[in-house]
Parts: sequence; structure tokens; C-alpha cells
Amino acid sequence: MSDSSRGEFSSSFGFIMAAAGSAIGLGNIWGFPTQTAQNGGAAFVLLYLILAFVVGYPILLAEFTIGRHAQSNPVGTYQKIKGGKRFVPVGFLGITTVGFILSFYSIIAGTMVAYFINPILKLMGLHQASAWVISQGASSNILFASIFFFFTILIVAAGVKNGIEKWSTRLMPTLLVILVVLVVYVLTLDGAMEGLKVYLLPDFTKVMHTQLFTSALGQAFFSLSLGVGSMLVLASYTSKKENIVRLGWLVTLSDVSIAFLAGLLIIPAMYAAAASGTQIFDETGSLISGPNLVFQVLPALFDTMGPIGIGLSIIFFFLMIIAALTSTISMLEVPVAYAVDNRGMSREKASIIIGVVFWAVSMIIALNFDLLFNFVVSATTQFIQPLLGLFICIFVGWVMNRNTLIEEIKQGNPEVANSLFMKIWPFFIRYISPILIFIILAQAFL
Ligand code: PHE
Repeated sequence: MSDSSRGEFSSSFGFIMAAAGSAIGLGNIWGFPTQTAQNGGAAFVLLYLILAFVVGYPILLAEFTIGRHAQSNPVGTYQKIKGGKRFVPVGFLGITTVGFILSFYSIIAGTMVAYFINPILKLMGLHQASAWVISQGASSNILFASIFFFFTILIVAAGVKNGIEKWSTRLMPTLLVILVVLVVYVLTLDGAMEGLKVYLLPDFTKVMHTQLFTSALGQAFFSLSLGVGSMLVLASYTSKKENIVRLGWLVTLSDVSIAFLAGLLIIPAMYAAAASGTQIFDETGSLISGPNLVFQVLPALFDTMGPIGIGLSIIFFFLMIIAALTSTISMLEVPVAYAVDNRGMSREKASIIIGVVFWAVSMIIALNFDLLFNFVVSATTQFIQPLLGLFICIFVGWVMNRNTLIEEIKQGNPEVANSLFMKIWPFFIRYISPILIFIILAQAFL
């Protein structure tokens, strides 16, 4: 590594867990089921899957490549690579956007903390307190989002190896096991099969609205942490020995699988809840959705499980907190890397200052939740993230020197140069991915 003060991952496993940890988070378990419910089920699922592979993966690899090549943050990367100067504002837009994502994300992550504490308080007989923590009023949102910010700042300040890597390599596998257990249980419940149908059998006639495409694209970008520089920065800490083509596939596959599993849990769980009398449709006849969906469905599900449910609920929300934390650290890491690389700030100082700035933004959102929350979510994830992705396609596909690009991808994977993959991927990054993004963004505005 050229610059040892930046830090690097000590192992390949560390990098894959950090990248998968960034990808897997509330986007999968909160965002994906919510979007699926909002957009009518299977058609959304299908479109999301297609876009994750056709647009998401190619851009993920592009970010890995330029990040590792420049060994820098988004701004520094464009400054260092030939032809990148004009793209520096794109780097800044990424850094700012990821901060806004961190700000709204921490509120939802805070709610996960509240639901983790809730059954514990109940067990202790503190019923009033347990009701307050999940009230989701401004004061509880503020408290729990702040707690979340505190831990994010602490870990990012600790650095790459001791912070991000140590945390990401733990507990992610446990999350997978718990999800599978819950899915198996849900599918045994009355009504679940109907939910399964809605989840798996697309009814295009019902859902062909323009929002479907923007939502699915935004979800693919959000879920794979694309455009804003998180993946780029993580790759900048990885060694030239890694096969980034393969690691990119692993990240995409694990991310998509966890989202798919989460949907397999939540959508049938909604129908199971309906079978036992809960209202799951709104006045217009569509599934209820919105930021609270999983917080209505999951606790109701755990309640049906008796005492085991209490234990499972505590474990589940604990793992959600970990999953969210491995994502938020990869968010805060982006502006912090900029401050460290380009401004010569110490990591600790940068983490605290930048963390506090976006904490303040988060508080503003929490205090004006109804006004700001949905707006910030859709502006950042459905519009700015894909737009940033479009710029990455243009830079990597059209501006960056071809040989430099191929040389970088070949590091750690020399055979790739003559493979079919190297004929397909450049075609995607030059044409397919940017054109699809452009069409979807354009139709959203027309
Ligand atoms: N991919 C993360 C999730 O699904 C969210 C995220 C977005 C992380 C952007 C980093 C950057 O929860």
C-alpha cells in the first residue's frame, strides 16, 4: 500500500465482510419489503432483481476498480485518475448525499434499537417505558438516532482494521440463520401462502405505473450502497491481490439474497397477520406500507410465537442493529476518508466533526419527520444515487483510459483479461447500465 496512514484490510475476508456489511442493512430488511408492498409485490421483485444484476453489479465493479486504483475517496479518485478533473463535483455530490442517507438511516436504525429494548423493558415489568421507546414520537426518535450516531462515530474513529473490519466479520452469518428460521416459521402460518403468491407471481397489469421503475432502480442502488462512494472507499483499502470481479459477485449475490429472504418473511407475514384479523390493506385496496411496515408486522409475528418469540425478537433486532451499523460506518467513512486524504485531518477529529454535522441534519429530519423523511429518502435513493451511478458509467466507460482500467481489474485476477467477462462488462458499463438509468430517470420526470 502506498500510504500506510490510510489503513487497509488485513484480509480478504475482512474486505468482503465490510463490503457485504455495507450492502446488507436496513435497505434489505426494511427498505425492500416496504417497497415490495408499496409496489404491488412480485413485479417489483422481478424488476429489482434484474436491475441489481444489469445495472447494480456493473457499477459496483466500476466503483471497486477506480477506488482500488486511486486508493482514495470519491473526490481524490477523480482528482487522481486522468480525465477525472471534471468529475470532481460528482465526488462531492456523493460525499454529501451519503451524509443525508446516514441522517435518515439512523432514525430507522434507532427504531431498531427501540424494538430491541422494548421486550427487555417489558420483561423487567417497566411497561410504561417499554411503550414509550416504541412510540416513535420526536423525542424517542431523537434519543435512539443519537445513540446510533454515537456508535457509528466511535467505530469510524477507531479506523479500518479495528473498527470496520472487526465489526463486519462478526454476526452477519447469524443474521442469515435467524432470517431462514423466521421464514420457515412464517410459511407454516395460515394465510402465508396467499402472501407468497403476491410475492412471487407478478401481476403486471396491476402494477405498471412509472413509479415501479424508479422505485426498483432506487432500491437496487440503495441496497448495493452504490454511487455515493461507500464501495469505492472500501475498495480503496483493499489489496491488489484481491479478485474484485469475484468479490463484486459475492457482494451482489449475498445482498440480493438477504433482501429476497426478508421479503419472503415480511410479505407472507402480512397475509398471516390478515388471516388473524389485522388490517393490511388501505382504502385504495393496496397493501399498507410506509416506513412503519416492518415495525407493525414483525412484532405481531413474534407475539404469535409465545415466549420463544420474545427471545427471537431480541436476537432479531440486535442483529438488525449490527447490520445497520456495518452500513452506517461505510457511510460516515466516505466524508471522513475525504477529510483524512485531502484535508490532512486526523481520523478521530474528522469522524467527530462530520458525524456531528450529519447528526444535526438527522435531528432536523426527526423533528420534521412527516415533512422531510420520505422526501429525503426518495430524493437521495431514487434520484441522486442513480444519477451518480450514471456519472460513474460515463467516467469509467467513456473517459477513463481503457488500459488503465483493464490493468486494474486484472490485478489479483490475471486471467480475466481474455475472458468473456471482459467483453461483456465494458459493454454494460458503456451502454446498457447508463441507458437504463437514463430512461428510468427521464420517465420519472416526464
Ligand atoms: N446498502 C445499505 C443498506 O441496504 C445502505 C447504504 C446506502 C449503505 C448507501 C451505504 C451507502 O442498508
